[in-house]
Amino acid sequence: ETSENGKIRKLYKETTKLYHHILVNTVLGEPALEYLHKRGINDDLIEEFEIGFAPENNILEAFFKEQKLYDYQILRKSGLFIERQSTELVERFNGRVMFPIRDTSGQTIAYSGRLLEKRDDAPKYLNSPETAIFNKRKVLFNFDKAKGIIRREKEAILFEGFMDVIAAYRSGIKNGIASMGTSLTDEQIYALDRVTSHLVICYDGDNAGQNATKRALEIIEPTGKFSLEVIKIPEKLDPDEFTKKYGSEKFVELARNDRKSPLEFYLSYYEQDKNLNNENNQLEYIRDILQEIAKVRDPLEQDLYLNRLAQRFNVAKENLDSQLKQIREKIF
Ligand code: UTP
Ligand code: MN
Ligand code: MN
Ligand code: MN
Ligand code: MN
Repeated sequence: ETSENGKIRKLYKETTKLYHHILVNTVLGEPALEYLHKRGINDDLIEEFEIGFAPENNILEAFFKEQKLYDYQILRKSGLFIERQSTELVERFNGRVMFPIRDTSGQTIAYSGRLLEKRDDAPKYLNSPETAIFNKRKVLFNFDKAKGIIRREKEAILFEGFMDVIAAYRSGIKNGIASMGTSLTDEQIYALDRVTSHLVICYDGDNAGQNATKRALEIIEPTGKFSLEVIKIPEKLDPDEFTKKYGSEKFVELARNDRKSPLEFYLSYYEQDKNLNNENNQLEYIRDILQEIAKVRDPLEQDLYLNRLAQRFNVAKENLDSQLKQIREKIF
């Protein structure tokens, strides 16, 4: 790696310590600390994830000067600032709880900063821009801590947000990871393939999360590298909200024992906003499910679900079989 990259890494290392110090030890950090405690993120978790706070006022330039790390060109490229008129640097993160994003070796390479309160003029989470050391496509939140546990437990659990990873971690589920608010990339799948062959998707229970689950299945399944399961959080909650409402034990129970196969997920996914007493809806539903059954490799599993469909809608299995053959001919 170039010396420039090393210098940028050093900036992130020191900034992470500074933000953390401000959160934990200063008056400036008090509202943020209170916010985190209210969300059930206790001091141990704050240490574990080295969570920090970026105050409203600009502090970094003076800090870097004091640390003898001031180099305008490096600062400009670091992603910690926004440049104005090619002469002035303004800090990117103001008044946000800072979650360090680390690479596989555990070094901070970026941040995601959360507002304490909802605002209309700024996003809830602000992420670092891509830099020489931060490629969003490659990063999985918590992968550095989780990878050993993923190997041992022979599975990784994919969450939508960092707060969900942290909530699961607090409940003792430490093989959780999250992508950076985007769908999974080839690079992330490649990284996962090196440590496990079983993935569990546990996205938010709301419509956005369920659509994201379908997208994730569509990206992962064709690779043929993983067996897959889905955990559905009820009441449109996300894992963090579920834990808050029902407690850690209930969440662990759900996450360990209430898993669906991808096909079972599709059975309930396509039922959303359909009234299956209506015949047109029934036909549409059966076609949707047949499309999914057609993608299944295991003939026994195919047969099982064909039987279920036939029984549930009282149609001849031979009809479903021939429909399925037609679909398969189109796909393969
Ligand atoms: P969610 O809206 O589900 O956020 O977005 P969350 O994780 O539940 O966060 P809390 O509980 O409100 O704090 C899921 C993920 O999408 C990305 C983040 O990575 C977030 O974890 N996201 C969301 C952004 O990047 N920017 C945003 O403004 C919102
Ligand atoms: Mn500390
Ligand atoms: Mn969501
Ligand atoms: Mn969420
Ligand atoms: Mn949430």
